[in-house]
Amino acid sequence: MNKLEVFTGNANPELGKEICRELGKNLGALTVSRFSEGEIRVKIGDNVRGKDVFLIQPTSPPVNENMMELLVMLDAFKRASAGRITAVIPYYGYARQDRKDQPRVPISAKLMANLLTVAGADRILTMDLHAGQIQGFFDIPLDHLFAANVFVEYIEKLKLKDLVIVSPDVGGIKTARAYAKRLGAGLAIVDKRRISPEKAEVMNILGEVEGRDAVLVDDLIATGGSLLEAAQVLKKNGVKKICAAVVHGVLSGNAIKDIESSIIEELIITDTIPLTDERKHPKITVLSVAPLLAEAVKRIHQEESISCLFD
Ligand code: R5P
Repeated sequence: MNKLEVFTGNANPELGKEICRELGKNLGALTVSRFSEGEIRVKIGDNVRGKDVFLIQPTSPPVNENMMELLVMLDAFKRASAGRITAVIPYYGYARQDRKDQPRVPISAKLMANLLTVAGADRILTMDLHAGQIQGFFDIPLDHLFAANVFVEYIEKLKLKDLVIVSPDVGGIKTARAYAKRLGAGLAIVDKRRISPEKAEVMNILGEVEGRDAVLVDDLIATGGSLLEAAQVLKKNGVKKICAAVVHGVLSGNAIKDIESSIIEELIITDTIPLTDERKHPKITVLSVAPLLAEAVKRIHQEESISCLFD
């Protein structure tokens, strides 16, 4: 492990420290600050020639600042002759712009992949991508972890009654099915449909939910709109208790206030994105993915398989 070095940018230093604690290593010396005009200034404090560098930086809000920091850091490590650089991006921003879903729009998720590669990333370690196909936007090795294990253990302890796992949209069926299987629970899907451009959306529930406790599962919560709408329709359909398990707590706009006043009893997220003090709330539980990321870092460094982490 002596060639392994872990560094972190400013996006989630706590997660970086936790990963290092798990690995029994100190964080590498790295200064990431700003010049007076706001440009990013990076200085690596250690000799990294030939080292196996893991650079932790989710591209969470402020996404442009964090992405730019990551690119500048990668450039610094490349020019400092690091042996191999793995960009550890627990939350991959810009992921929702992953296809041309209307004319004259960018595919920003691909652009980010290009930028990361050009800047110097040799591999990527990421978690619960918004769309699995984003892996193919990279022509370098990418390891894609899932936080499901962390959530399943926690949900089991909640002792929910006659549990049903619910996907808030059809795109999340595969994930919801995996949770349902692991938890021996039922499966339901919220099917949103716009009847016509003028007529509002209708929501149907596919699956048995009446009289049951439900856990909504999703990859990310931003404004909370999708989750709260789904929760309301579940309530209308006779669900008793509603919790939500969401990997990436982006929590933008009025999300916290809206969750506070919502029928969702508990929102469980992970620490892929830091939860700042002003956004902490008794309804929000944060589970750490640091042990999972640390194990993946160790295995990648030792050139061992990481597929056992998906079991
Ligand atoms: C949608 O496909 C995603 O999985 C999330 O459900 C969605 O992006 C969350 O956004 P918001 O919280 O703003 O509804």
